[in-house]
Amino acid sequence: YPLVVGVDLGGTQIRAAALQGSTLLSRVSMLTGENGTPERVVPRLFRAVDQALSEAHLSRKEIVGIGIAAPGPLNNRTGVVLSPPNLPGWRNIPLREIFEEQYQLPVYLENDANAGALGEYLFGAGRGSQDMVYLTISTGIGGGVIADGRILEGTAGTAGELGHITVDWRGELCGCGNVGCLEGLASGTGIARRVLEAIGRGEGEELLALARQQNSSPGESTHETFRVDARLVAQGASMGIPLARRVLDEAAEALGVGLVNIIHLFNPEVIALGGGLMQMGDQLLAPALAIVRRRAMKVPRELARIVSAELGPT
Ligand code: BGC
Ligand code: NA
Ligand code: ZN
Repeated sequence: YPLVVGVDLGGTQIRAAALQGSTLLSRVSMLTGENGTPERVVPRLFRAVDQALSEAHLSRKEIVGIGIAAPGPLNNRTGVVLSPPNLPGWRNIPLREIFEEQYQLPVYLENDANAGALGEYLFGAGRGSQDMVYLTISTGIGGGVIADGRILEGTAGTAGELGHITVDWRGELCGCGNVGCLEGLASGTGIARRVLEAIGRGEGEELLALARQQNSSPGESTHETFRVDARLVAQGASMGIPLARRVLDEAAEALGVGLVNIIHLFNPEVIALGGGLMQMGDQLLAPALAIVRRRAMKVPRELARIVSAELGPT
């Protein structure tokens, strides 16, 4: 495999790595930062790439190209980030061109979850399968579909936006413009938002008390990321706090409905689940899988192995 640098633009973190195939030669991460407009974030992406190069003792002349993974929807043909719901201020940003100018190298822009799906297909949980789906549950929810051994791209490369399939057709408005999206119910931000809304209505005194207690504990990060929030809800649920239970149950139910749709649409051999929220484990997964068992068609359900992604949270 040739030497490359990959950089992942996340709603919360930027990660970069120098790689040869799936072998990591270096790995850096930094916070995307509040108010992550392109003007602020693009220089950080450059810094992450430069650090990944220097930590691997490589110059830009020694790599064959740069791969950028970013939240969609994006057009991987033109290299333009279109309108990602979790990156406010990013509208029609020609990220590939911006990188090509900076580095004078071939640059590829791909949806983060599509890139994750390719990674799992080539090197991870999907190895050896021809039909697989990767679903990442983190700040947002992203999907990537491998059909007949090829990534499903669609006309502009936006296929596989599985976080924005409708699971509640009278549900809440999503940042993407649709209502009742899977992401709005089951992502880290979705879970946190629903809890905060309930707290705003005067529910959830107990959860609020738990949050205050946690935030004042010494050593706790002052950056309140979604992980802290979603983790708090998970902790509250395991303590039996009703609001936390309800929101998590609804998230799990939405995930189950989403998985049924994915099974019916793609008849995959493997569904690889990744992203930070998978750390919740059975709290989220067990009720979701119960829904899959009850509702999905027999044959595609029995053939679909639902497993953890192998290449770590993306
Ligand atoms: C975007 C997806 C992306 C996911 C994870 C979603 O909001 O629509 O394209 O894969 O977030 O970043
Ligand atoms: Na995708
Ligand atoms: Zn949506």
